[in-house]
Amino acid sequence: MSETPKNPSPADLDRMSEAELVRLGTELDEVDVRHRENRWPEGVTTRAEKRAARTVTTWFALSALFALAFAVVYIFWPWEYRGEGEDGYWLYMAYTPLLGGTIGLSILFLGFGAVQFTKKFVPDEVSVQTRHDGLSDEVDRRTIVAELNDSWKTSTIGRRKVMGGFLGAGVGLIGLSAILPLGGMIKNPWKRGEMTLAGDGTLHTTGWTLASDNRPDGLPAEKVYLGRDTGKVYPDGHPPAGEGRLERIRVDDLAAGGLETVFPLPASALGNFEEHMHALHGSRNAVLVVRFRPEDAARVIKRKGQENFNYGDLYAYSKVCTHLGCPTPLYEQQTHRFLCPCHQSQFDALEYAKPVFGPAARALPQLPIAVDNEGYLVANGDFVEPVGPAFWERRS
Ligand code: FES
Repeated sequence: MSETPKNPSPADLDRMSEAELVRLGTELDEVDVRHRENRWPEGVTTRAEKRAARTVTTWFALSALFALAFAVVYIFWPWEYRGEGEDGYWLYMAYTPLLGGTIGLSILFLGFGAVQFTKKFVPDEVSVQTRHDGLSDEVDRRTIVAELNDSWKTSTIGRRKVMGGFLGAGVGLIGLSAILPLGGMIKNPWKRGEMTLAGDGTLHTTGWTLASDNRPDGLPAEKVYLGRDTGKVYPDGHPPAGEGRLERIRVDDLAAGGLETVFPLPASALGNFEEHMHALHGSRNAVLVVRFRPEDAARVIKRKGQENFNYGDLYAYSKVCTHLGCPTPLYEQQTHRFLCPCHQSQFDALEYAKPVFGPAARALPQLPIAVDNEGYLVANGDFVEPVGPAFWERRS
């Protein structure tokens, strides 16, 4: 064995073998290798070694298989909601447990494989290193590469193609499984679908758009009541026919100084529990109706062009914060401020819900309201601007 120079020149480094560079690296790093022993004799492959390789390969293969199963379940399993008793209910119910089970087993088997691989193939070594500070110099960099190469070679994974392949597949597929669910968040924000109680799929519409004279689907405006959520639930998931969740409200249902959250309730959906749930789940549907005391109503400052949006002392504003879209559920009656708990934006209800504190930059859009000939509160058209936070094409 040739003597390893302590301060090698670039020419020395070029001349040195990988083993010499490894030795130099450990010496320079002040690593004292106390004990090092390969797991298996070099040059011969024993039956025990083959058996160990098969065990590790099996763990990696199982890991890859379950990661693949996760991807298949994620993409192809019927995940759309099914109520109890409907066809496909149990398949729907199995979706989340299957996702959790497959990815969990994949990671578990990868862990088993990694532990077994380390115990059975990585050389048994005890080294002691003194900690030192500072940047790495050229010698350190060259020697660390040699050490890593040495680790790769002595781990023998380079020549165990099948095991290495399954290890790579397992790690790759688990990585893919972490990225894959992001696909579910990708949505074309311009794609118009059917106009429903949640809007038509674009950010410009809500359930209240059903009351618009200029509906994007070209159909005539519907009568849309302001629907109060009664909170009714049915343990078996089957409401009696004609039993709804939302109910219409009249002007006098709200006391002076009171506040109510309402959702769009089309006349065609009265008593239709399922449609009511769609209205409740429409992410831009919630509206705050506030009834000012007469002395407060006299101080209201209306927004230009929206002077007839209120009905008497009643004003309706979108509940979706114009900062980042949280619900704005708090109302401070003394100061007449709506408060958003997410980042503390405040909106002045007496002055067209314009922002007066916090990061929100736009007023809460106001919904025009009226009363029908039976005394129920109805939407008198759609919002005149998109609700919620900023987006690319928004002009207001
Ligand atoms: S979402 Fe309301 S203040 Fe940020």
